Formats: sequence, structure tokens, C-alpha cells
Amino acid sequence: MMYAALDDLNRRPEPFSRCTIDTLWTDPWIARKMLDYHLDQGTDLASRRFETIDGIVDWVDRKLGLSGKSVCDLGCGPGLYAMRMAGRGATVTGVDFSAVALAHARAEAAAGNMAIAYRQADYLTDDLPGDQDLVTLIYCDYCVLSPQDRQRLLKRIKGMLKPGGALVFDVYATAQFAQRKEAATYGRNPMGDFWSPDDHFGFQTIFLYEEQNLALDRYLIVTPTRRFEIFNWLQYFDPEAISAEVTRAGLAVEEIVALANGEPWTPEAGELAIIARA
Ligand SMILES: C[S@@+](CC[C@H](N)C(=O)[O-])C[C@H]1O[C@@H](n2cnc3c(N)ncnc32)[C@H](O)[C@@H]1O
Repeated sequence: MMYAALDDLNRRPEPFSRCTIDTLWTDPWIARKMLDYHLDQGTDLASRRFETIDGIVDWVDRKLGLSGKSVCDLGCGPGLYAMRMAGRGATVTGVDFSAVALAHARAEAAAGNMAIAYRQADYLTDDLPGDQDLVTLIYCDYCVLSPQDRQRLLKRIKGMLKPGGALVFDVYATAQFAQRKEAATYGRNPMGDFWSPDDHFGFQTIFLYEEQNLALDRYLIVTPTRRFEIFNWLQYFDPEAISAEVTRAGLAVEEIVALANGEPWTPEAGELAIIARA
């Protein structure tokens, strides 16, 4: 039993043959731990630090002008971008499938007396708001999706935008893929109580698919009463590859910039931000 599980963990799956994205964000325990990471100013896990987010919202405002615009933030999490964009005069809708993150977002909006519409929905399958000037999808959420879901999402976003409306999203760049290494590790409670409040063992195998700039972080978590697996796929992009996907979905790439400051992209950049138009 245990041999079979570990043998399977060390086998390289076909790209995107199993996905577990929703477990990370909607499992009640893990979603609560994720919220802690979103808000933790000592780490960039789940959300970037507030200082970086301020810089990103600043360049989005400079380039696209937020005041008076209708904006939908897909995968808004606890509303860190939504609050800031609303603060600059945009009418903001935040969409996320994590009830835990949205509860925090709604409480913050109420405390700040801000009229932000938050919707609990899956942006791949549920109805999304239309007639938007701007759609944002921030923190490389695009990179965890299969090629089919990436096209599906881009086409859905095109349908959300007014003619000439903009999409701003970010992806991990191939410069970061070059730093990654394959590995197999295990430990007792390897991330503290992140995976489970119970004592547990965590096994992690990292697979790289060099020709595709694709990585898989595969986890097996074993508690006294439960065993579950996590498949975290991460697609890394260069400007050509991401431009081809955006164009195939019927959007026009306007600019590819460095994420932190909106300045022109350089090959060393670890993350790219794309501005595309409907
Ligand atoms: C990496 S976090 C980023 C959150 C936020 N954009 C930020 O940077 O602070 C990804 C967010 O996307 C949400 N998410 C992932 N897939 C989703 C889907 N298919 N539909 C709706 N929300 C999704 C998760 O619940 C999570 O809040």
C-alpha cells in the first residue's frame, strides 16, 4: 500500500493529467492557512507583500487610469488589489471561489465603507460580469492552468470586456524556470500545520518538463486518518509564448512589462505582466 503510493509519487505524470487547484483554495483548513499567507508581510506566498501590491496598482493606474472604470479582479483572494483599485475610484467586482478569502475581503470593504461587489464563483465555469473596462488576474494564476483552460479563460475574459477594454495579468518567466531543480524530499510536518492540523508526513517530488518550461510540485500528505495528494503545475513563459496564447484567444497584446514597476521587460525578469486589449 505504502510502496504503491510512493512509487506512484515518483512517476512523472503526463502534463496536466491530474489537477488539484481547488483543494489548495477551498479545503476549509488549507484555505484558512492560505489566508494567513495572503496577509503575512514576511512572505510572498499566496499574495505579494503590500508594498509590491501598491507598486503594481500604481502602474496599472498610471497606464490605464482606474478612476471611473469598471474593473473585475478575477481570483481576487482577500481583496488586496480590489480595495486599492476601488480606492482609486474604480467600480470593482472581485471574483473568487474561496469562501474564506471572500469573507475577509467583504469584512475589509465594510470596515473601509467601500462598495466592492464580491462574488463567490469559479472563473472557469460560472457566469462572470460583462461590460468591463478592465479585467485583472494577478499573481500568476494563469500559470497553474492547463493549456485548454488557459484558452478557455482568455476567451471568457474577452467576452467580459468592452471593445478596447484591457486585460492585465502576470505569469512566471522562463528565467525562473532556469533556477528550478528536480528533487524528492519528505519530512514530518514539513510546512508546520499548513497541510493539516494533525501530525503528518509530507512527501514532495518536483518534476521538470524541460522542453515545455513546465514544472510539477507533487505532494503526498499522510495524517493518522487521511491521505491526500496535491498536483501544483506551473507553466513558465517567455514573451513569445504568452503573446501567442493571448493572440490565439482573440486579444491583442499591447505591452509586456516587468511586474513590479510596469517598466519594460528584461530577460532576467522572474515575472512578466501582460497588458492586452479586446
Ligand atoms: C495566488 S492567489 C492570488 C490572490 C490575489 N489575486 C492576490 O494576488 O492577492 C489565487 C486566488 O485565485 C483563486 N482562484 C483560483 N482558481 C480560481 C477559479 N477557478 N475561480 C475563482 N477563483 C480562483 C484562489 O481562491 C485564490 O484566492
